[in-house]
Amino acid sequence: MSDKQFDVVVIGGGPGGYVAAIRAAQLGFNVACIDEWKNAKGGPALGGTCTNIGCIPSKALLQSSEHYEHAGHSFADHGIKVEGLGLDVAKMLSRKDTVVKQNNDGIVYLFKKNKVAFFHGRGSFVKASDAGYEIKVEGAAEESITAKQVIVATGSNARPLPGAPFDEENILSNDGALRIGAVPKKLALIGSGVIGLEMGSVWRRLGAEVTVLEALPTFLGAVDEQIAKEALKAFTKQNLKIELGVKVGEVKSGKKGVSIAYTDAKGGAQSLEVDKLIVSIGRVPNTIGLNAEAVGLKLDERGAIEVDEECRTNLPGVWAIGDVVRGPMLAHKAEEEGVAVAERMAGQHGHVNFNTIPWVIYTSPEIAWVGQTEQQLKASGRAYKAGTFPFLANGRARALGDTTGMVKFLADAATDEILGVHMVGPMVSELISEAVVAMEFKASAEDIARICHAHPSLSEATKEAALAVDKRTLNF
Ligand code: FAD
Ligand code: NAI
Repeated sequence: MSDKQFDVVVIGGGPGGYVAAIRAAQLGFNVACIDEWKNAKGGPALGGTCTNIGCIPSKALLQSSEHYEHAGHSFADHGIKVEGLGLDVAKMLSRKDTVVKQNNDGIVYLFKKNKVAFFHGRGSFVKASDAGYEIKVEGAAEESITAKQVIVATGSNARPLPGAPFDEENILSNDGALRIGAVPKKLALIGSGVIGLEMGSVWRRLGAEVTVLEALPTFLGAVDEQIAKEALKAFTKQNLKIELGVKVGEVKSGKKGVSIAYTDAKGGAQSLEVDKLIVSIGRVPNTIGLNAEAVGLKLDERGAIEVDEECRTNLPGVWAIGDVVRGPMLAHKAEEEGVAVAERMAGQHGHVNFNTIPWVIYTSPEIAWVGQTEQQLKASGRAYKAGTFPFLANGRARALGDTTGMVKFLADAATDEILGVHMVGPMVSELISEAVVAMEFKASAEDIARICHAHPSLSEATKEAALAVDKRTLNF
């Protein structure tokens, strides 16, 4: 077992860990990153959940399935005739795998460029001493590395349904959900959160009959109610069957598929027979194999690593970021925490503004938001003004042939400061950035309303919604 000394060791090479490693190296630290993810051939696959079985492959399949749906349903409206339309699921999956590999390889390149030493294997704490924290790497060979500063970025895993463990054949996590080899006739998803809606959309577009079973009586409770209502209307129109307020009972997996017993919102006993079931009921922080006990690293009651606002753990020099700590489980949140921690280690003042972290659900229509929802403002008693603008009245949306949804602004009643921006509609994943920038700069709704936006563009709906706060839309 060799022994190597670094300034900083990052455990986990997902978006939190790899970005932290690069930023620390840019700041002059001698950095190592350990990641255990294996590709199909057993080699390294940097990028974590996000790159391998999360953000990137899901967006690749969302794009492919959207093309298929357009070719089958909306091209005709544009005067484009498609004959003999067919589906090659194997090709679609292999394209997705190529996109993933491009991202894996990109991180290897970035590590070389920034001189980050990469160790492929599982990293675990051995002990703390004057030399720093000793970390064992179990990979093809066993190695030992030591550093005074450690960043834990070990991510999260899918939460299984009690009594129905993932077999990735019939009962699928997000991993299996991204590599179903043939379109299932009937597909169920448990949980109508972000994964439920995105993966449900992929397989519905490809031809599956999809039912989503959700425990809560409200649809997308964290989303602004008006936006969630609009989205539910659109999904229902697409035949994505969403049942709210259900209580899932026994789930049995057999040769013919999966049977799910559940109680519906009215208390009626129901059962559903499907070919495949995707369980998307949230994720749990991952500290498996980290040997946190060896150094006394403190976890909270959810199993997340306990950290303060600046990602400091209870141990001096040990930091934790991303899905393994509190806060939203989003790749860009993990990245921002990684950058901020590297900068704090260098004596700088890295900062993450939790009030301006955007959320995007990449369905069709897309859903995106930043800041507070109307129901949150009502509950807090803050006086606010609201302005909305529908894509129906936007020229670019009409030209695209996609006029679903709206943009909604919420601004302080007295100061006009933007408190939240909520969107449902085409390409709002891109439009939300303007709202994030505006909120970071503490802009007022009037600031956005006075800015020149290109015509015709979807972003004009943002300007118009800002104008609507003051009841002076020009095109509605
Ligand atoms: P991870 O990405 O989970 O990376 C952790 C890494 O650490 C992994 O490579 C793991 O193998 C490694 N590791 C763990 N323990 C050890 C150990 N002891 N030694 C060595 N290595 C270890 N977020 C978005 O912002 N946008 C999206 O569109 C989006 N889509 C998603 C779609 C799906 C289907 C899923 C499941 C998630 C999605 N997310 C999305 C969430 C996003 O993937 C996570 O928030 C993000 O990956 C968290 O980054 P992380 O670096 O904290 O952890
Ligand atoms: P989620 O938290 O978004 O949704 C889980 C849903 O399951 C909730 O609506 C919850 O009420 C429901 N639920 C929980 N237990 C249930 C039960 N027993 N029966 C029925 N319903 C139940 O979690 P999800 O979809 O698994 O995604 C995990 C996380 O991954 C997300 O919260 C998000 O942080 C991240 N993600 C982000 C994406 C993005 O940014 N576009 C895409 C996909 C995932």
